[in-house]
Order: sequence, then structure tokens, then C-alpha cells
Amino acid sequence: EKGGYDYFMLKEIAEQPKAVADTLLGRIDASGSLSLDELRIPDAELREAEKVVIVACGTAFHAGLIAKYAIEHWTRIPCEVELASEFRYRDPILDARTLVVAISQSGETMDTLMALRHAREQGAKVLAICNTNGSTIPRESDAVLYTHAGPEVAVASTKAFLTQLVACYLVALYLGQVRGTKWGDEIHAVVRELARSAEKVEQVLETMEPVRALARSLADKNTVLFLGRHVGYPVALEGALKLKELAYMHAEGFAAGELKHGPIALIEEDLPVVVVVPSPRGRSVLHDKIVSNIQEIRARGARTIVIAEEGDESVAPYADHLIRIPATPTLLQPLVATVPLQVFACELATARGNEVDQPRNLAKSVTVE
Ligand code: M6R
Repeated sequence: EKGGYDYFMLKEIAEQPKAVADTLLGRIDASGSLSLDELRIPDAELREAEKVVIVACGTAFHAGLIAKYAIEHWTRIPCEVELASEFRYRDPILDARTLVVAISQSGETMDTLMALRHAREQGAKVLAICNTNGSTIPRESDAVLYTHAGPEVAVASTKAFLTQLVACYLVALYLGQVRGTKWGDEIHAVVRELARSAEKVEQVLETMEPVRALARSLADKNTVLFLGRHVGYPVALEGALKLKELAYMHAEGFAAGELKHGPIALIEEDLPVVVVVPSPRGRSVLHDKIVSNIQEIRARGARTIVIAEEGDESVAPYADHLIRIPATPTLLQPLVATVPLQVFACELATARGNEVDQPRNLAKSVTVE
């Protein structure tokens, strides 16, 4: 049932192009407009939403952090993202004009379920983004947008994460569409690119051998740091989470702009630092700032592992290891940038002799608070 792979995680990483394509299927028509008929929240209510609040845990929380960038940029609706386990304990401000989005692969995570129950008690509408048909979270929500990743068996979430991103992009674009956000060239380009994203994930998967070799060479390290900016920041957090849960290594993700406010003190000779570089097109200021960060940490001895777009030559002189990803609009970059980090963590776990599909102390779905 592992389809010839040694681990479910490897199989699930490989299934990502299909999972992404299946989650997009039938939701964008030929003219580039979105139809999410399955959403039972009427368009009129979506037009009136004044705020979006996303609640989730772990990897799904990272998808939510990325969604915030897309929702605010494309729709101009304020969006907050909160760890579901923290949400209800701080008496959040919610009402009928708040759209709460609960993201969960399993649909059974108790923290997320309690957060959505709290939101509904306060009169908010809850939309679930979920991978498991008929599970508790979608049953208790006002509406659901299913991800079509298929069953995810490995404890470490991979294909579910990419499909959560796709679902978040669809929700953001749909909110923009029903609210009449100016449908400029940028949005049209994004919709077109989203439709091609499965293909790009496939391209990334075809070039992963050097990433595996690199991971094996780092098996005796104690710490790996991850840096990113903008949507690359949650990608860095996700890379670090994967490494913690699978390789049992100290791994931390930072916003690259925060380096100078403390974390740069951690940099020492030969410390591996993975840097997710934003596209040099689009928000190029951020790109240039992160290239300076790479120079700064390298000057202090870091071993730089740089994930950058094909054709971005400016990073090459400062990269000890360069991992290429296809050119993608900035907001969609996490779909391709996360994949090497999954492969990296999986291979490091294997090299350290860890049980990849069933990491110690963890369960696939966490049904206690
Ligand atoms: O089923 P859920 O998406 O609600 O699960 C949330 C987290 O427990 C989950 O993403 C966890 O962080 C994964 N093991 C990460 O790989």
C-alpha cells in the first residue's frame, strides 16, 4: 500500500502534483473565474465580512499564515491567524461579520474544534478547510471547502499542506471575486499560474537528488536554522517543524528581518542555515534584503543552503548549496518552496535512523486539548 516507496511520507510527497491538481479541479473555469458552489455561505454574507480569522495547529497553522498574505493583498479584508490552542482563551472579538476559517487535515483536531465552537457561539460564521470527508470539524462548521489530497497516513503533513495552500488561495480569490475587488492583471496572472502549479511541483520533485545528498551529509548536526521573509517566513517555520518532528533536531524558523534583533548571535562556523529567497521579480526590495542577509550570515561562518528561483543569479556567489525552484508569483511561491524542505527533513530522518512515518511521541490526529 506504500506503492513501492519505503515510507508513506515519500509516497505522499510524490503524490503532491496530483493532490494539488485534484484540489483545483472544477473550481476555476476556462475564463479564469472561480466557482465554489459547495460553499454554503451565501455570497451576500461573504460580501459583508469585515474580518477573516484563521485558526489551525501545526502545519495547518503555517498554511494559515501564508493565507493571510494572500487574503489581505487580494481582498483588502483584514485577516488574523491564530493558533487554535490559544484562540478561545484570550476572549477574541468575534461577531456575525467575522468569517472564521478553520484549517485541518484530519478534521478531528480538538484544539481547532474547540476554537470553532467558540467562534460559532459568538455568532461568527465558520468555514472549514479540511481533507477528511464527514469528519467533525466540517460537520460542525457552516461551510466546508474540501482539499482533495487523498488519505494522508504519515504523521508529518506534506500533501495536505500543499492542498491547504491551494484551498486558501481559492478562498482568497473567491472572496475577491464576490466582493468585486478590482480584477486586475495581477489576479488574472495568479489564477493562470495557480492552474499550472501542479506541473511546477512536479518539476521540483524531479530535481531533489542533490537535496537528499545534502541532507545525508548533515546527519550529525545538532541545529539547522531556517530564514524567510514575506510568505517565505511561514515556509521557514514549516521547514523547521518538519525537521523537529522527523529528525528530532533543534530547528528554528526566523523572519530574516529579525536576524539583527537577536538570532544572528546564533550564527557560528559551519551552522547550516536554509534561506528561502523571494522572487527577484515582484517585491524585489525584499529579495535584495534577503541577499544581504545571506551575505551577513555567511561572513559569520554559516553554511548557506539557498532556495531560489531559476535564473536568479544574484544569490549564487553566497550559496554553499543552491536549490532551484521554478519561477512563480510571490504569493504562490510556498507551493514550490516547501517541497525541498519536506524532502530534506525526510532524508535527514532516514539518515539518523528515525522512524519516518511514525515519529516518536506524536499521533496523526491530536484529539485531546
Ligand atoms: O489534522 P490537522 O491538520 O488539524 O493537524 C494539525 C497538526 O497537528 C498537524 O499539522 C501537525 O503539526 C503535523 N504533524 C505536522 O507535520
